[in-house]
Amino acid sequence: MSSLTVLGCMWGDEAKAKIVDFLGASADVVVRFQGGANAGHTIVADGVKYVFHTVPSGILYPGSKCVIGSGTVVDPFGLQEEMQALMQKGIEFTGRLFIDERAGLVLPLHKALDSSTEETLGKAKIGTTGKGIGPAYSDQTARCGLRLGDLKHPGWLKERLASLYRYHGQEISTRRLNAELKALAEVGEFLKPFADQADALVREWYLAGQSILFEGAQGTLLDLTYGSYPFVTSSHTISGGASTGTGFPPRWLDRSIGVYKAYATRVGEGPFPTELFDATAERIRKTGNEYGATTGRPRRIGWFDAVAGKYTAALNGIDSLAVTLLDVLSGIPELKICTGYWLGNRKLAGWPSHPLELAEAQPEYLALKGWDADLGKLRSLSRLPKNAREYLEAIQDLLEVPVKLVSVGKDRTQTIVVK
Ligand code: IMO
Ligand code: MG
Repeated sequence: MSSLTVLGCMWGDEAKAKIVDFLGASADVVVRFQGGANAGHTIVADGVKYVFHTVPSGILYPGSKCVIGSGTVVDPFGLQEEMQALMQKGIEFTGRLFIDERAGLVLPLHKALDSSTEETLGKAKIGTTGKGIGPAYSDQTARCGLRLGDLKHPGWLKERLASLYRYHGQEISTRRLNAELKALAEVGEFLKPFADQADALVREWYLAGQSILFEGAQGTLLDLTYGSYPFVTSSHTISGGASTGTGFPPRWLDRSIGVYKAYATRVGEGPFPTELFDATAERIRKTGNEYGATTGRPRRIGWFDAVAGKYTAALNGIDSLAVTLLDVLSGIPELKICTGYWLGNRKLAGWPSHPLELAEAQPEYLALKGWDADLGKLRSLSRLPKNAREYLEAIQDLLEVPVKLVSVGKDRTQTIVVK
């Protein structure tokens, strides 16, 4: 029996999907436990590029089962589109995809609320992906949200939808309400074969000795509680989320891999202590193709932040590190890693929980020599340039967790397993 949680440990976009895909070859079940279509998970397999938003990326392995857990929020229309596009590429879903009936629904109303809230916030906006995530989770917490299982019960659905509009103080004409219900009935028919009480299935599979891989979305610094609040997403991205978001007992969470990009990026607003605004940032953005997979927004770029990294490794109980996009740093003469934060003349003990302190934190850096070689074809640690190995060693020493995987390119095969 085994379970493995793969978590993004920074602000998302750590190339988690690449690592999930690499490890997915030996997983029987791949489970998404939080978030929704705000995620953009890109995988390149045999030269073909796949972008996933809600479907677990394990679906690419014909032998594996995939679960969308109760802790997620599902845009039924977006999911249908995503599934149909994958079906056209030959992916089979029947008997392989299980969506928990308790997953919250993201409705057109939530997307509209997402953009109007951002507009109202003005300069204080979060810079969301606009996928309706915040409003959909808020409605779940407020107990007025709809869930996937509601699509099976037309009368109940009608009442719940009408009262949701009332809750938000919005008038909806009978004609519009009926049109929305009709669309929901249609998409409900499409999703019906996949809706289940998935928690029981995952527990059963685990007890039967199958290997379960939990695929995190977003990243720890975007966790609703432990991230850079309020500039966070609305779900629990930390390891505990794998338990609450699937009904999987916490003591069955066996191992966890933390995915860290070799440098830092962030999309959306909010403090980012190691952010760079110079030619190096531009170079990394270009080489690393640092543009959002969901929104196309250019990502903000910064040096690797070991203060944040140590915090997230500890918070998640990370056993080993996967360092991704190391190849992108090739050719930069000097690299920096943030080893401490200063507030004026006071050195902070670690990651501050208040946004004002985080915004004012001045990073202290360790400078390391860069390397200039194409890493894309290398498949062992010993073949890496000495300076690249020293860079990885610095990360592992600062985070106090061993590096087990290094990604040196987008393709599945461009992965180094540290022996
Ligand atoms: P993956 O899974 C990076 C960010 C948004 C915004 C904040 C809140 O691909 O790593 P939301 O739409 O969730 O309410 O936006 O969170 N964000 C992400 N940033 N990668 C993601 O997902 C993200 N999902 C949300 O940019 O700052
Ligand atoms: Mg992404």
